[in-house]
Amino acid sequence: MFDIDRVRSQFSSLSQGFVFLDAPGGTQVPDSVGAAVAQNFREASGNIGFPYETSQRIGALVDEARERSSALLGCSAEEIVFGANMTSLNFMMSRTIGRDLSPGDEILVTRLDHDANVAPWLELAHDRDLIVREVDIHDDTTLDMEDLERLLGPKTKVVAFPLASNAVGTTVDAAQVVALAHAAGALAWVDAVQYAPHFPIDVRALDADVLLCSSYKFCGPHLGIAYGRRELLESWRPYKARPVGNDPVGHRFETGTLPYELLAALVATYDYLEGIGGIAEVAAWERELGERLLSGLPEGATLFGSPTMDHRVPTFLVNFEGVSSDDLSVALAKEGFGVWSGDNYYALGLYDRMAWGSALRIGLAHYNSLEEIDRFNDALAALVKNGVGRRS
Ligand SMILES: Cc1ncc(COP(=O)(O)O)c(C=O)c1O
Repeated sequence: MFDIDRVRSQFSSLSQGFVFLDAPGGTQVPDSVGAAVAQNFREASGNIGFPYETSQRIGALVDEARERSSALLGCSAEEIVFGANMTSLNFMMSRTIGRDLSPGDEILVTRLDHDANVAPWLELAHDRDLIVREVDIHDDTTLDMEDLERLLGPKTKVVAFPLASNAVGTTVDAAQVVALAHAAGALAWVDAVQYAPHFPIDVRALDADVLLCSSYKFCGPHLGIAYGRRELLESWRPYKARPVGNDPVGHRFETGTLPYELLAALVATYDYLEGIGGIAEVAAWERELGERLLSGLPEGATLFGSPTMDHRVPTFLVNFEGVSSDDLSVALAKEGFGVWSGDNYYALGLYDRMAWGSALRIGLAHYNSLEEIDRFNDALAALVKNGVGRRS
């Protein structure tokens, strides 16, 4: 059984009564992860590659961070690339593959994507005369596979898609997308930012060519992590300073000095996650949390996306007809609940299609308790009942 009290006791930020329901924006961080940053500055400042002990420690740390990240994603350590965040990594990697593309080549993105998996392709298309097409969704926000099949063609070079939507939580049948992309001779380019905190990932089982995630979404530091299939990374010409070595191959794509203190934090994050039973345990607990939230949503709530815990992560987009979500989110903050009210949530294609205006995003993490969910549902119901945010 998931020991939620033991989990929560590891976070100072959770001991103050505030209920964080903003995980898709960024999770809380256990104290051990913060402590690892300070320890690294104390014990391993400087840079890699020198013969003295502190420098050797940095080298060992980078190796460990790569090794542990490869265990998270199911690849080998040399296929890991670290970067400032997912967006920066995606711009870098799309620019890099862009060197091998020709005018008229096509990239597919989807309406479920966060713009961090769309804008890099649009900018590349602008500079290299490529064509970007957007795969549609059904009204229930699931990906329209027939539209994907329709859009795939001999000129498609990349199919970029998310494993889970950051706005509505909808997951994608990745195996099907990857199979279709590969059958058409295109690469499968996967945004796993909103999936990695909630479900285990295995890039080999997925047969992904590139996969990106961001550790501040799973209780870690602000750091991007990418996987690139080895043959691809070997075949690409990196944008790198000339003296940078080629071994491990992922390192060729890491521009400049890595943030060693954040890599130390990342290793501590993996220790934390393993200590609570790993992501598979998290998934089971979050399903329970999500079911609790769904069953207690106040009357009159419109939920965008799956009405059950099937085919989704525990991120819920909700609004109420005639009620300002912004006002609700401010009132909720005053009562001790952190939820975001927003319009497009960086998911521009989805926003155009679903036209929710503005809505509350309630994003659960494994450190939330059932008691927090009950309190939140009660507080939201009371605010709506009392007419908070009601437009006359
Ligand atoms: C699905 C998705 N992809 C990409 C990103 C961008 O991640 P980063 O902030 O690491 O650039 C986000 C950020 O919220 C996201 O939710």
